[in-house]
Amino acid sequence: MNWLNGFNGKLREFAPLAELTWFRVGGPARWLVSPGSQTELAETLGRAADHGIPYKVLGAGANVLVSDDGFDGVVVRLDEPAFTSTDFDGHLVRAGGGVDLMDLTHVCARRGLSGLEAMAGIPGTVGGAVRMNAGGRHGELGQVVEGVTAVSERGAVVSLDRKELLFGYRSSNIGARIVVWATLRLVQSDPVQTMQRFREYWAEKKRAQPLGDRSAGCVFKNPGGASAGALIDQAGLKGYTRGGASVSARHANFIVTAPHATAAHVRAVIDHVRDEVVRRCGVELELEIDIW
Ligand code: EPU
Repeated sequence: MNWLNGFNGKLREFAPLAELTWFRVGGPARWLVSPGSQTELAETLGRAADHGIPYKVLGAGANVLVSDDGFDGVVVRLDEPAFTSTDFDGHLVRAGGGVDLMDLTHVCARRGLSGLEAMAGIPGTVGGAVRMNAGGRHGELGQVVEGVTAVSERGAVVSLDRKELLFGYRSSNIGARIVVWATLRLVQSDPVQTMQRFREYWAEKKRAQPLGDRSAGCVFKNPGGASAGALIDQAGLKGYTRGGASVSARHANFIVTAPHATAAHVRAVIDHVRDEVVRRCGVELELEIDIW
């Protein structure tokens, strides 16, 4: 553990990751670290780069499938106070990369700060959600991002403003950089109406999606205008099960896991769904979740 000598933050070796993800499956991280400051985060990434050690950042674990072998590198969590605070300055909100997106969405709606309601019911951290431009039918997070501060793969701190940021469907140009701060430009509106919209969007999601089950949300991206869920449903795959992993009977783009599930079960369901959707619908599905 030489490469981390002198690291003052929280550090665990061979740390189980399953309990930190929504699928609740997968093996351990060789190192799991929680830097206490932006400087410590930058130093950690710089040292990892010098030693050729791969890294991943784990947010809320809501969109990731960790393989059963785990991750043979360093997994960074932004769960220390340096990354979990939020400052309000009128309609500008500066949130740490580790802030819980659902909490932030709720707090903003209550204050009548409108612009995040489309995030109602979307699990994740601000950093992860900005990086993948989380969203749904009512909008995407990228629409309100004014700028971000991030740490690069080599440990350099970079600031990207609105003009330098590119957001696409569930994607951005942030890449492997770790978001430590995001500034969001919201609109001061009526708190009652904003809360009402927030509740409406959340209820809509609850009706259509198995939010009470263990899942990582939608597994595949919607292919060019079509709905992945509808295609998987048409292919007759709702309820398809391998071991402890099944295609949700509620929404076919969700894979839900039982307590005895492994990552291999989830992989087997993913592979089968892909093959069947190509065979029956002629469409190649692309993953929305990250597989480690
Ligand atoms: N449909 C089916 N069967 C299913 C699921 C859906 O026939 O099993 C049909 C629906 O009836 C509807 C159409 O497919 O006519 C679209 O379904 P839905 O409204 O549920 O939206 P979606 O395209 O499947 C997208 C996002 C969701 C987001 C919802 C609502 C993607 C991949 N999915 O789902 O995002 O919550 O819109 O805004 O972009 C996520 O990203 O993890 C996610 C869940």
